[in-house]
Amino acid sequence: TKRILSGIKPSGDLNIGGYAGALSQFVKFQHEFESFFFVPDLHAVTVAQDPKELHQRSREIAAYYVAAGIDPEKATIFLQSQVPAHAELGWIMETQAHFGELNRMTQFKEKSDGKEGVSASLFTYPALMASDILLYQASHVPVGEDQTQHLELTRDLADRFNSRFGKTFTVPEAIVQDIGCRVMGLDDPHKKMSKSNPNQASYILMLDEPAVIRKKFSRAVTDSDGQVRYDWESKPAVSNLIELYSLFGEVSTEDVERRFDGQGYGAFKKELAEVVIAKLQPIQQRFHEIVNSAELDEILKRGARKANEEAGKTLLAAKKAMGFVTFD
Ligand code: TYM
Repeated sequence: TKRILSGIKPSGDLNIGGYAGALSQFVKFQHEFESFFFVPDLHAVTVAQDPKELHQRSREIAAYYVAAGIDPEKATIFLQSQVPAHAELGWIMETQAHFGELNRMTQFKEKSDGKEGVSASLFTYPALMASDILLYQASHVPVGEDQTQHLELTRDLADRFNSRFGKTFTVPEAIVQDIGCRVMGLDDPHKKMSKSNPNQASYILMLDEPAVIRKKFSRAVTDSDGQVRYDWESKPAVSNLIELYSLFGEVSTEDVERRFDGQGYGAFKKELAEVVIAKLQPIQQRFHEIVNSAELDEILKRGARKANEEAGKTLLAAKKAMGFVTFD
């Protein structure tokens, strides 16, 4: 069977990069695959989190899933910390991962570079991520480009475990879309759009108001050539905006080029803002309805039951394969 699993960390407010690279893909793929979408809260605490904020943001990510159009009747939506098998298989995956492999992860290097008090868990994070995926026997994992190295490691760990202990895990494939897999900052097309950028105009948040969105796009950097043309090599800033238009407006990049042929950047940016606003407004409305609701609690409780059932089966198989004494 074809199964997907993926998730968005509850750290920082969600920006439209995460929507483009991940959430919008989840919504699309739920119809093709049996789906598990989770909130990786255990991953969030690899860096310090304020308990109140972690609590609220975890609900928020789950609310975005539903608000963006994931159908909780079809897909399983759950919180990672409510499924203990993640931590347990995470430990087992740490026994399979090599120090050198983890040390090569570029996200670890970026996140630890120049910092003091880096947690051990930030280093072993990819082993936990592998367990997230392998527990559900996911065949596919939709992610943005920055997660592909972690996916490669997951595949290596699955292969390694299977060859040592017998076929236990499905070896998953990443799904990385051409459009939207790497949304760049509005202030610099060489830096990923990220909430950690101190310049607030560099990103658009899922909850930004229309006036804010219009202002941020009007200030987005472009180039001096004046043509709305899709060409990452020579026009990265404009290409980034074209991808956003394409994704939010559900048209091809060629259509965007044709539509704004000879029109200059002013008209293009104005319409881009409207296209993004049109997509975000209904999501924002539904988000506010659901985020603190009992309805969301019920979805998450139901999701945790289903997830515990699925994950439990795989964990037991993995433990048996390794030789642990189990009574089932
Ligand atoms: P996270 O929370 O940093 O990001 C969530 C997803 O959003 C994508 N993304 C982007 N895509 C395009 N442009 C951007 N600017 C952008 N910013 C973020 C990310 O690629 C990701 O797909 N380790 C993961 C969370 C995780 C996970 C998993 C994902 C934990 N376990 C198992 C998949 C499967 C992370 O930190 O993503």
